[in-house]
Amino acid sequence: MIYRLPEISDKSILQEYMQEHYDNKENSVSASLGLPASEYTDWVEKIQRNSLVGDEQWGKSLLYLCFDNNKLIGLLSIRYELPENLTKIYGDIGYGVRPSERNKGYATTMLHYALSVCKEKGMDNVLLGCYKDNLASAATIKKSGGMLVNENDNYKEGRVSQYYSIKL
Ligand SMILES: CC(C)(COP(=O)(O)OP(=O)(O)OC[C@H]1O[C@@H](n2cnc3c(N)ncnc32)[C@H](O)[C@@H]1OP(=O)(O)O)[C@@H](O)C(=O)NCCC(=O)NCCS
Repeated sequence: MIYRLPEISDKSILQEYMQEHYDNKENSVSASLGLPASEYTDWVEKIQRNSLVGDEQWGKSLLYLCFDNNKLIGLLSIRYELPENLTKIYGDIGYGVRPSERNKGYATTMLHYALSVCKEKGMDNVLLGCYKDNLASAATIKKSGGMLVNENDNYKEGRVSQYYSIKL
């Protein structure tokens, strides 16, 4: 797969990517960092700024578009400087795969890549969160060595959040 930051010229492929989620009755797009509610150029600038200088609260982070055979398959958010209080809520890594490309091993490949980036950045452990009822994400994390370390009731939708630790 090819992983790269978004560019101004990616507008239409990202619109199409989001539309596929809406067409599948998903009203949120994982790891999109607020794209649906943002002006596109501002969003690209924010992502590029996050990778270069970082955000005051979130530190430096990467938001990669993940391609296979020139098709945008998924989004991958790697928050390798996240302060501990935010890690405990959001986790260090986030990802999503477009509905038509799920169950083909892409999330597993993307997480594997994210873990290699985190290791390269000097981390020796990452924390990932997912809802307990998100069986696909939990399976992806467990396959990559994730060990359940915490579980709590999430204020959102009354769903239970689980947190997994992965040693790098
Ligand atoms: C979670 C998600 C990223 C998984 O992507 P994917 O590319 O389909 O995952 P993979 O193909 O790599 O599969 C990983 C594991 O999940 C399992 N899996 C996939 N879909 C599943 C489902 N609906 N129910 C249970 N397990 C599932 C696979 O079988 C595989 O495990 P296995 O190898 O032990 O069989 C994808 O479903 C998605 O984008 N969901 C919406 C966004 C989201 O939930 N993001 C994560 C937030 S924490």
